Amino acid sequence: MNDELERMGAVLDSLRVGIVAVNAKGRVEFQNAEASRILDVSRRSSAGRRLAEVLGDRHPAVSILMQVLETQRDLSSHECVIHHRHGERSLIVDLAASPIIMDREADGAALTLHDRTIGRELEDMVDQQARSEVYARLASGIAHEIRNPLGGIRGAAQLLESRLDDPGLRRFPELIVEQTDRIRRLLDEFGELTRGGDIHPRPVNIHEILDKLLTLQSQSGSWREIEVRREYDPSIPDLELDPDRITQVFLNLTRNAVQAMEGRGQLTLRTRVDTPYHLSPGESKPMRMVRIEVDDTGPGIPDEHLPLVFTPFFTGREDGTGLGLALTQHWVVKHGGRIQMLPGHAGGTRARVLLPVREAS
Ligand SMILES: Nc1ncnc2c1ncn2[C@@H]1O[C@H](COP(=O)(O)OP(=O)(O)OP(=O)(O)O)[C@@H](O)[C@H]1O
Ligand SMILES: [Mg+2]
Repeated sequence: MNDELERMGAVLDSLRVGIVAVNAKGRVEFQNAEASRILDVSRRSSAGRRLAEVLGDRHPAVSILMQVLETQRDLSSHECVIHHRHGERSLIVDLAASPIIMDREADGAALTLHDRTIGRELEDMVDQQARSEVYARLASGIAHEIRNPLGGIRGAAQLLESRLDDPGLRRFPELIVEQTDRIRRLLDEFGELTRGGDIHPRPVNIHEILDKLLTLQSQSGSWREIEVRREYDPSIPDLELDPDRITQVFLNLTRNAVQAMEGRGQLTLRTRVDTPYHLSPGESKPMRMVRIEVDDTGPGIPDEHLPLVFTPFFTGREDGTGLGLALTQHWVVKHGGRIQMLPGHAGGTRARVLLPVREAS
């Protein structure tokens, strides 16, 4: 019998679905390995205890189990966000719970947990790639359509300027030339989005890139009261990156952070090797990602702005162009990575860039 139980335990531990069983009082009777991983709680620390005690009353796994114990009906809940204790990671999980029936009576409840995080992250990556592609097409179309007539306007204004004797009137064609030049500069910047494949990756040390950029930036007056913190993970290998583009990425992110803090606050640069991405069960070589975060202690991005910040020309600043993050996303995607703007832990903003680690084959 014991052998059978042990075997059953091993079978349940081998599943890629989390399982938790609680008794009628909500105390944990069983928890398989996947559930321990998803909930970030070891079997030893939860055994025999009320799940609410272990995870807190408001945890989605607790509330669904409590409701099932109360109503004795099946319940499910899609795409719950489960935060891990140290805030390092959150998972997107589908939950389903049912009463356990013993001798025709409900006696406790069982919960299954399906981790959907990787699927959602891959979808997000594909979304970012698609969006970046659309922006690039739009940018190239607009730049092309505007550049030609603009050249005509500038030429005509210059001609007019050379024929006008009255200096008072000459101011106007001069103004036209000046303003068309301004549009041209904007188009050049916009055109960065269209220069598709021109990244030149080579093995680089990301910490050296970040340090160089910080040294350069911190010379500027607007950084005088910024406290810079570096939390680097020394185990990060060299990455295949285009150093100029990646410098641009982190220049845009740190500049946004410093602007948001209006020159005063804490800027944290953090690097980590991310949890391996198993693209599908049985895939022999998981894709490793490095996570680079830029945290600030500014006012944060309002929720309603979050979906818009990567859109070209979206700006919340009076003197902003709104191209910084669109370009940043473009270069990150070109490197096979992904970027997210998240609420920071100290109320500010956390920009998270994931970049792939290309293993030497
Ligand atoms: N760290 C941050 N904290 C708060 N808001 C931010 C942060 N980063 C970006 N934003 C918001 O997102 C908007 C878009 O940023 P983005 O860098 O694309 O453009 P911009 O900074 O306005 O102009 P520029 O083209 O000069 O970079 C910003 O105007 C700001 O409202
Ligand atoms: Mg910016």
